[in-house]
Amino acid sequence: MWLDKNENADPAMLDLAVRLVQSLDPRQLLLYPESGALYQKLARSLDVTPAHLVLAAGSDGVIRAVFESFINPGDRVLHTAPTFAMYPVYSKMYGAVTCPLAYRRSDHGPELTVEDCIDAIKSCAPKLVCLPNPDSPTGTAFDPPSLRMIIEAAGEAGALVLCDEAYYPFYEHTAVPMVKEYEHLVVARTFAKAWGLAGLRIGYAAASPAVAALLHKVRPMYEVNTLAVVLAERVLDFEDEMLASVRRLIAGRDWFTSEMSGLGLRTLSSHGNFLHVAFGERAPAVHQALKDMVLYRQDFAEDCLKGFSRFSATTVERFKPIADRIASVYDVQS
Ligand SMILES: Cc1ncc(COP(=O)(O)O)c(C=O)c1O
Repeated sequence: MWLDKNENADPAMLDLAVRLVQSLDPRQLLLYPESGALYQKLARSLDVTPAHLVLAAGSDGVIRAVFESFINPGDRVLHTAPTFAMYPVYSKMYGAVTCPLAYRRSDHGPELTVEDCIDAIKSCAPKLVCLPNPDSPTGTAFDPPSLRMIIEAAGEAGALVLCDEAYYPFYEHTAVPMVKEYEHLVVARTFAKAWGLAGLRIGYAAASPAVAALLHKVRPMYEVNTLAVVLAERVLDFEDEMLASVRRLIAGRDWFTSEMSGLGLRTLSSHGNFLHVAFGERAPAVHQALKDMVLYRQDFAEDCLKGFSRFSATTVERFKPIADRIASVYDVQS
């Protein structure tokens, strides 16, 4: 099992992807992408206009486009730490000076307050604030009023905010409606997580039409390929199935977390499709026991998550053998 990259590990979403692919007309492969209908359909589902949207190769494509459009060498970029790996990478690639804002270690997991963010915006004076909400790998999220305070502070400082919602709707709140209020806000979304289509490489930015127009300037002639356009357009008809899958994965995440707590292990709750558990001094025995069964992130270098292993969420059924194997380590050794 691959539970190391926060893909969608729900077998029902795989079935849906298979059905969608089987419904494809192979002749579409001969054609250049026609993305107009997808822009319209997405805009309707998000209650924005097509002018608010830019398709890209996943959230990653959106993040890169934002750096490409807005960041010149020497500009300051504020990002949380740890966070999605590409924020520091693109900061370096585009010559930015970074202000990493570190999560503190606490009893209930990585911690960062709104005040921390606002203070950092004031002291860093960044051109860009990168804020995955929920963040990864921490699984933390700001609620809508807190997010609004951060967006307003960034606006006052003249910064653009990139709110990365890769884990929507595992975390149900969204900043998308705020792009109609704030010209300095870009929201990145993806079909990789909840929609189960990580390999298709399609996502999109929602932003004010003025900012979306700037992002369009740096996009390739065809921002996404024909298969991505056709499949994304079709999968949008299956929102109920996607939401049911999200509920199943959240149930699996929470079940596994409570099983691990039941073994006396420290766990962290997360707003994404993943969870953290600290195996303590028996970690090497657990890693050995799970070696032929599941891939997961074994540990973190950053202080706020040191000692925790991260598993992407799957269903209760698929988590059960993993939980049993872990329990057997503690049974044998206790
Ligand atoms: C916070 C965050 N943003 C973006 C991504 C990348 O998403 P995509 O596959 O859509 O590029 C990830 C993937 O793990 C992520 O955790």
